[in-house]
Amino acid sequence: MIILGIESSCDETSAGVIKDDLTVLSNRIYSQKDHEKFGGVVPEIAAREHIKKIDTVVASALEETGVKAEEIGLVAATNSPGLIGALLVGLSFAKGFAYKYNVPFVTVNHMDAHVRANHLAFPELEPPYTVLVVSGGHTFILNCDHNNRYELLGNTLDDAAGEAIDKGGKVLGIGYPAGRELERLSKLGNASAFNFPRALPEKVNLNFSFSGLKTALKNQLKKMAPQEITEKLNDIAASYQEAIMDQLSIKALNAMKMTGSNKLLLAGGVACNGRLREKIQNGMKGENKLYFPPLSLCTDNGAMIAAAGLLKYKRLGADPLTAGASAVFNLTEVNYGS
Ligand code: KG4
Ligand code: ZN
Repeated sequence: MIILGIESSCDETSAGVIKDDLTVLSNRIYSQKDHEKFGGVVPEIAAREHIKKIDTVVASALEETGVKAEEIGLVAATNSPGLIGALLVGLSFAKGFAYKYNVPFVTVNHMDAHVRANHLAFPELEPPYTVLVVSGGHTFILNCDHNNRYELLGNTLDDAAGEAIDKGGKVLGIGYPAGRELERLSKLGNASAFNFPRALPEKVNLNFSFSGLKTALKNQLKKMAPQEITEKLNDIAASYQEAIMDQLSIKALNAMKMTGSNKLLLAGGVACNGRLREKIQNGMKGENKLYFPPLSLCTDNGAMIAAAGLLKYKRLGADPLTAGASAVFNLTEVNYGS
């Protein structure tokens, strides 16, 4: 069977085509540019841009694979969480596609899809596993049992890791989204130059907090003259990134100890970060194994939606074309394992 996955929850319009053995045939991603000047995603603009691009993105994914629309056996679309107007574009397109070509349709939870992106990279991967989910809008630690049921072990009390990166990036004037540039600058700087706080250090606490760190960055910059900031930008970036990655890696490794799991998965856009991967890898012991998808499958993409859609369809069958969208993340929605 060939599966088409459609993603439009934020500022990426994407269509992925995969086979049911989890081979990725195409993964077309259009990243909207219009938000950069606002330093964050403008929901109304995002929805309108999705409408403009969805047709061509899906068509180009199909064209790249040589698969005809009639040959698609399942169409999956993100319906939660995300910007509601943006979600509705991809969801409605997928429903129209399913209706026209008479193929089954499933809704997909975006966070579940970030986790399942790991299965595209490692088709033999099976739960149980522990997952650090780090995206622009969410940061939490999950345990996934052998029945594919998730348990929430820790969550952010304020900002998501990606939000801390992007808001910090805005203060530093390094563009939006800031993750890649922050990582690039950090490689040129000294991560011990500035002492930024690490919140909630207690071993048993798997929650996160980043708002104090953001304030610490602003306070640090207030003490510096513009020229000094420019001169020390790499050191500031490296120290700020290190504080975020320290908190994430320590909590993820503690979660593994608590669950006794020997597999840790990274999921979401911040999982692109080389320093995060390195820190966790360095902290791994014995037989424990770290999994993360390649960069193109970490950030928002249609192939991961197809992968999560396939898993859900195998367990529950198709969803009705009346299925709605929801802006907020709800763990019970993704716990469809038997
Ligand atoms: O998962 P994602 O593509 O979108 C959401 O579902 O939110 O994650 C986007 C986030 C942004 O905050 C972006 O700055 C961050 O991922 N990101 C990175 C890197 N590449 C993207 N963060 C750190 N290092 C990177 N290399
Ligand atoms: Zn995402």
